[in-house]
Amino acid sequence: MKRSELNEIIREGEKFIASFGFKLPEFAHWSEADWRKNKHRAGEALRARLGWDITDFGRGEFENTGLLLFTIRNGSADNLKSGRGMVYAEKIMISRRDQVTPMHTHAVKTEDIIVRGGAPLEVQLYNAKLGGGVDESKPVVVRMDGVEYEVKPGGVVQIQPGGSITLEPGHLHSFWGTGGDCLVGEVSTVNDDETDNYFLDMVSRFPDVEEDEPPYRLIVPDYARL
Ligand SMILES: [Fe+2]
Repeated sequence: MKRSELNEIIREGEKFIASFGFKLPEFAHWSEADWRKNKHRAGEALRARLGWDITDFGRGEFENTGLLLFTIRNGSADNLKSGRGMVYAEKIMISRRDQVTPMHTHAVKTEDIIVRGGAPLEVQLYNAKLGGGVDESKPVVVRMDGVEYEVKPGGVVQIQPGGSITLEPGHLHSFWGTGGDCLVGEVSTVNDDETDNYFLDMVSRFPDVEEDEPPYRLIVPDYARL
């Protein structure tokens, strides 16, 4: 993706998030120079890969297949192993109208996907087969705000603003905003986007960046150059 495109997506995202009165932490507004200045204090933010994250899942068509994420907090695998400390994570995301996040599941992470504002979110569901692939026969049992639903394989549920769905390991899920752009929250187990995403079709989770202008904000993969 071009840096100019990433910059524009973040500028638009900031406006959309602010339109709901949702505030981001201070480091969301840091420039690259601010990151360099604060690097010695921000080790935990860098380790946990907090901040802006944009993906087109390697398809090169962000409007059709893509997601803007901002990781607000995230613990570590060590915490999870010991069962102490920060074993949780939180993100805020924007899933635009008909902008698909492709079908995937997680081995470790259980996530609540929450519609914080804007348009409803549609979520398509399957069970993952042991060893990979889609289970076309077994209904998917999910909880939405603590209430259990049985969904046919490949069925689509619609989540209204204020509502949420709990996705557990083995739940294959794909989602998109419907009728408009959707402000999506995620509250989950510790998150490792490098190792715990299993997409049905091969995708690249982080974009290769073509530097055609300076970054307005850094995205998570940029931290390697600090
Ligand atoms: Fe997911």
